[in-house]
Amino acid sequence: MTFDPAPWRNDTAAALGGRIHLNNAGAALMPQPVISAITDHIELEAHLGGYEAADAARPEVAAAYESVARLVGGTARNIAIVENATVAFAQALSAFDFEPGDIILTTHNDYVSNRLMYRSLARRLGVEVVFAEDLPEGGVDPQSVRELIRTRRPKIMAATWIPTNSGLVQPIAEVGRICAEYEVPYIVDGCQAVGQREINTAELHCDFLACTARKFLRGPRGIGFLYVSDRMLAQQRAPLFIDMRGAAWLDAGGYELFDDARRFENWEFAYALVLGLGAAAHYALNVGVGPAGAYAAELARSTREGLAHLPGARVLDHGRDLAAIVTVAFQDTTPDEIVASLRDQAINTSATSEPGPAALRISPHYYNTPREIAVLLDALSTY
Ligand SMILES: Cc1ncc(COP(=O)(O)O)c(C=O)c1O
Repeated sequence: MTFDPAPWRNDTAAALGGRIHLNNAGAALMPQPVISAITDHIELEAHLGGYEAADAARPEVAAAYESVARLVGGTARNIAIVENATVAFAQALSAFDFEPGDIILTTHNDYVSNRLMYRSLARRLGVEVVFAEDLPEGGVDPQSVRELIRTRRPKIMAATWIPTNSGLVQPIAEVGRICAEYEVPYIVDGCQAVGQREINTAELHCDFLACTARKFLRGPRGIGFLYVSDRMLAQQRAPLFIDMRGAAWLDAGGYELFDDARRFENWEFAYALVLGLGAAAHYALNVGVGPAGAYAAELARSTREGLAHLPGARVLDHGRDLAAIVTVAFQDTTPDEIVASLRDQAINTSATSEPGPAALRISPHYYNTPREIAVLLDALSTY
């Protein structure tokens, strides 16, 4: 491995403090520049007032949009900042006027909250949810997507790039090319991808990309963003519940949508977190998402290899391309018990279930080291 985590560990308080943080699919550790961006703005609010501080920080806020746009491809006008990936996804979904019998085409590996939204649309509006087949090795089969688009004519296609509870990476760009060919709007959940995979929304052919700041991007909790394609903006797509951030009130009646993706935002903002998100995107670009993500995936691969030697452990990940998320079940101990016991040893992991079996989730990042993985494997050898 040629990537050197050392400089980035120096910006990472918990790493310097000796805690082994392997819960980056939950929430990664914020580096110091992200923390400073947030706390500096809170200080400014304390001294100036909230609205006054937002006005004073206008250039920095604009720069935050620019950094996020550079991270995913596109320009600032394609970026809406929202509270989290779930809100981003819901805003995107609500841009379509579903009618009874309309089809949402999706995959078997999508995030549970997204699937609950489809079920809600089915219950309330009579939408039908259709699942594309998986490949034998795991992950959606693009040919099944093509076939279902041809035969069922879905209103939209929606897919999660990297599911929350397996190392799987879905062939999101291949599916995007098919959606583009048939002009089916395409919503991608990039929540676990942002910060560990290079993103170019043009190559993904996605119309919407929903992301959060706190995971592999190393931003703060409570903030996320939605990329919206020029095509969707030109089609006047907007969320169902628009607020004054997204449209102008017309005295004569009705409203006029604003031009850019900010029509997917709400007016009230945690500006400190917006600046934290911008700092995280800037930091990720500095580190280099490609090499950093490859290093993290290699740590995950070596974790799986080590786990394969533990008699009570069963690695659950499958797929052609695996990311920096490892899921493993232990024969005699529940994931919750293991998480608690590891936490007492200053090792952070998490437990996952729905959908799928209960499992321990181990998600390294580029500031972790092979030594930390060895310490984890040693601790797990007792189960
Ligand atoms: C794949 C995936 N999508 C969406 C989400 C939801 O993100 P948020 O909690 O920021 O809404 C998660 C959270 O774990 C996730 O793993």
